[in-house]
Amino acid sequence: MEKEKLKQLLEDMSLEEKAGQMLQLMGAFYQDDVEGILTGPARELGVKAEDIRMAGSILGTYGADALKKIQKEYMERQPHHIPLLFMMDVIHGMKTIFPMPLAQGATFEPELSRKCNEAAAKEAAVSGLHVAFSPMADLVRDARWGRVMESTGEDPYLNSLFTAAEVKGFQGEDIGEPYRVCACIKHFAGYGGAVAGRDYNTVELCEHTFREFYLKAYQAGIDAGAGMVMTSFNTVNGVPATTNRWLMRDVLREEMGFEGVLISDFSAILETVAHGYSENEAKAAEYALNAGVDIDMMTSVYSANLAQLVREGIVEEAVLDEGVMRILELKNRLGLFENPYKDADGEKEKEILLCEEHRKLAREAAGKSFVLLKNDGILPLDMEKKIAFIGPYTDCREMISSWAITGDSGDCVTIREAAEEVFDSSRTVYLAGSPMLGNACELIGFTEKVPEKVTEEDRQRMIREAVEAAKGAEVVVMPMGEHYLQSGEATSRAMLEVPEVQMELFREIARVNENIVVVLFNGRPLDLREISRKAKAVLEVWLPGTEGGHAIVDVLTGKVNPSGKLPMSFPYCVGQVPVSYNEYSTGRPNLPGMKERFKSKYIDIPNAPLYPFGYGLSYTEFEVSPVELNSKELKDDKPVTAKVTVRNTGKAAGTEVVQLYLQDVSASVVRPVKELKSFEKVSLAPGESREVFFTIEEPMLRFLRADGTVGSEEGEFRVWIADSSASGDYQNFFYVKQ
Ligand code: NOJ
Repeated sequence: MEKEKLKQLLEDMSLEEKAGQMLQLMGAFYQDDVEGILTGPARELGVKAEDIRMAGSILGTYGADALKKIQKEYMERQPHHIPLLFMMDVIHGMKTIFPMPLAQGATFEPELSRKCNEAAAKEAAVSGLHVAFSPMADLVRDARWGRVMESTGEDPYLNSLFTAAEVKGFQGEDIGEPYRVCACIKHFAGYGGAVAGRDYNTVELCEHTFREFYLKAYQAGIDAGAGMVMTSFNTVNGVPATTNRWLMRDVLREEMGFEGVLISDFSAILETVAHGYSENEAKAAEYALNAGVDIDMMTSVYSANLAQLVREGIVEEAVLDEGVMRILELKNRLGLFENPYKDADGEKEKEILLCEEHRKLAREAAGKSFVLLKNDGILPLDMEKKIAFIGPYTDCREMISSWAITGDSGDCVTIREAAEEVFDSSRTVYLAGSPMLGNACELIGFTEKVPEKVTEEDRQRMIREAVEAAKGAEVVVMPMGEHYLQSGEATSRAMLEVPEVQMELFREIARVNENIVVVLFNGRPLDLREISRKAKAVLEVWLPGTEGGHAIVDVLTGKVNPSGKLPMSFPYCVGQVPVSYNEYSTGRPNLPGMKERFKSKYIDIPNAPLYPFGYGLSYTEFEVSPVELNSKELKDDKPVTAKVTVRNTGKAAGTEVVQLYLQDVSASVVRPVKELKSFEKVSLAPGESREVFFTIEEPMLRFLRADGTVGSEEGEFRVWIADSSASGDYQNFFYVKQ
């Protein structure tokens, strides 16, 4: 529709109709049982029949036929026949579930995530959806927060690359094209900084850190053209983000240039009353609208108040119009005025959902996301040996996260199923050995799909059988870890251990067989001290998705050589979090030569995490030469080129992620001890070597300076090029001259 016609449409709309466009309801409100809805969920929420008739968008429902029906009936009733928008949490796949986002971060391959999202967009689009509530660009440093699984980690640069790639994957060049959906960057802003890792808690960040670390990935998503942004539940500078006018108008729209639709998170506008910020719901509506929030997700705050607020002259109709126009424009960009069903197609759903091509991609992505944390030479497995697979994930399909709500764990391939395709059955046994969670381990607030309790007698029997199997095996592979419901939204944990019931099994097995390979499932970094000490190998597989079983067997057998690198540090223990490699320099660094006692350190644990950002082993070895620079001076627009030679010194072909880190040694504000600035994935045959070049340009050195401007400063810069963030002393340096 032409812009002029859209304007005309807006002019023709009543105030109630406009407010309706700004209301989003769950698909459950559009079922056939109208009476039941009105007396049940609608009443609870405070929405009336008229609101349901006018609501401009729906979340949480999919399926081509169902959505076509809802769209048709809605448009017939809507006074101007404006189509609905259908939105859904498509976080790491639609039906084909790819590895969880933190795992995707471990691939250090944003292009692969672009492809995964392209596939997800295709599956979502034919299922009738228009918007995916993804990617989550929140930077994370605290493993206690359950939603770290939904982020790509602790590094602003890496997160930015992934956010941009994921947006492109969903949207392509034009969301109006077939098989494209609109991306929604979330949660603006700083949601990952929840104090003490407790979900929905206050965020305490100084503006410098907020801008330097937290805002960058959202910016990358906006620059990549994301059509939507979602507000976060937390406060920013003491004001709830959702009613924070400075944050939404000055920062998001003015500074960051976002022109699309801003949606609240689920009931976040209403929650500003509980925050003690909005005196009542009408005030919440006023503040959120004035902050520029266009859609109220699942409350009646906007629908019950906006028209009245305009009539009373408390909010300007022009402000309302701005928001409605943005929503209409999004509908228009998606081509919904011409074709309200867009790609919804029941036949194509059958053809595309979980198709071979997508499963293949899921297997590749999972394999590349695994991180080999330890290997005393036991991996890849010697297939001639007797192998016992013992652990609750051995034959378990729950390998998709709690955020893969459109996926079905029934479609997952288990480790056992995949192993049976390649291992000799006379030399392998498969046992759970333990329930996933102990009876005392409560998932507070969860009502569905909580694992069934096992009696103590049965548990002891499981352990006995497992120990017998372990005694008769030469190698024990132990697929174990967090239950998938232990990470995701509202799953903060104060302890970062693998469930105790599984650790008991692990200890019993370790007593009779020292050749243990732990295959670790988890949504967040865990405290792995005991496992790392006792197991011969630890393979981090996260929540790997639909093709997890195949991908794990690919790596265990050496068909795929692991190349993943940690996108988030694994703490030594919970007392260390939040922990990240890119911390600010302190006045008393924990360096040799400093007075032992009065340094910035713990007296009982190391400062270093157990496994740092950027770390991950391979079945082969790589040697990275010292850094050579073509110049010691970066001046005027002349970049410095850094060079290393990477050599595969082992016996297998493999891939190394070569990482460039810099440190700005002194500046007008204290800078991080090091920052990732670039990386390259290099695949080499045994004995092969390659020169890797990084171009260091002035824009890479810019930061928020003491005077509030962004730019670089003169002085020394240290350079590391290495296989992780933890490689020791810097290897070279250059000066910036201005
Ligand atoms: C709440 C979550 O915080 C957000 O990420 C999600 O998109 C919405 N619910 C909608 O499901």
